[in-house]
Amino acid sequence: MPQTRGRFITVEGIEGAGKSTCLTFMRDRLIQAGRAVLVTREPGGTALGEELRALLLGHRQEGMGEDAELLLMFAARAEHLAQKILPALARGDDVLCDRFTDATYAYQGAGRGIARERIAAMENWVQKGLRPDLTLLLDLPVERGLERAGKRSTPDRFESETVRFFQLVRQGYLDLAEAEPDRIKRIDASQPLVEVERQLAQVIDAYPEYDKVEFG
Ligand code: TMP
Repeated sequence: MPQTRGRFITVEGIEGAGKSTCLTFMRDRLIQAGRAVLVTREPGGTALGEELRALLLGHRQEGMGEDAELLLMFAARAEHLAQKILPALARGDDVLCDRFTDATYAYQGAGRGIARERIAAMENWVQKGLRPDLTLLLDLPVERGLERAGKRSTPDRFESETVRFFQLVRQGYLDLAEAEPDRIKRIDASQPLVEVERQLAQVIDAYPEYDKVEFG
């Protein structure tokens, strides 16, 4: 009998796409379906990861180089995998993660211009074979997202980036979704909430075989 594990589900999108609302909706739906769910986020999710998040998002390290930024994202991810994600999946719990490596391809790759192959090398090193089983990409025009995000708190180091940067990030995400349509499901996040939730429910309910994921 192959060993089974929980499902690894990630949520992605530019700032202001509505990830938090989506995560709550998804968590509730999985729990209703009888699943144990770990909700977590990147960068972050562990004590070290949260400290790295503060460095990455705060304004103390304004001139951080793009390679340092990339390596810190993966340092946080390595710790997150070892301390939380892999143990939860091995227990059979589902993991619902607010961003993962697709964000690195979109922000550090498409946004900052780091070559795809360099990110892929880090991905293979840190994650070995592990990839998300399902990724929900909340997509909406950059202006709409930034308008929503701007109404929240003081902009962090990423939120302070230009519209052009976020256009590259959005396109980066769309390119990933096009390349991996089975895993990455694009959700039209510019729609009213009830319609977004309908789309989310449709995607999640199409993945009923939660216990059949082989450990690899
Ligand atoms: P958020 O999760 O609260 O949206 O903030 C995290 C920020 O970090 C967001 O601007 C995207 C950015 N980020 C990257 O640039 N690369 C990554 O690999 C991850 C996980 C996040």
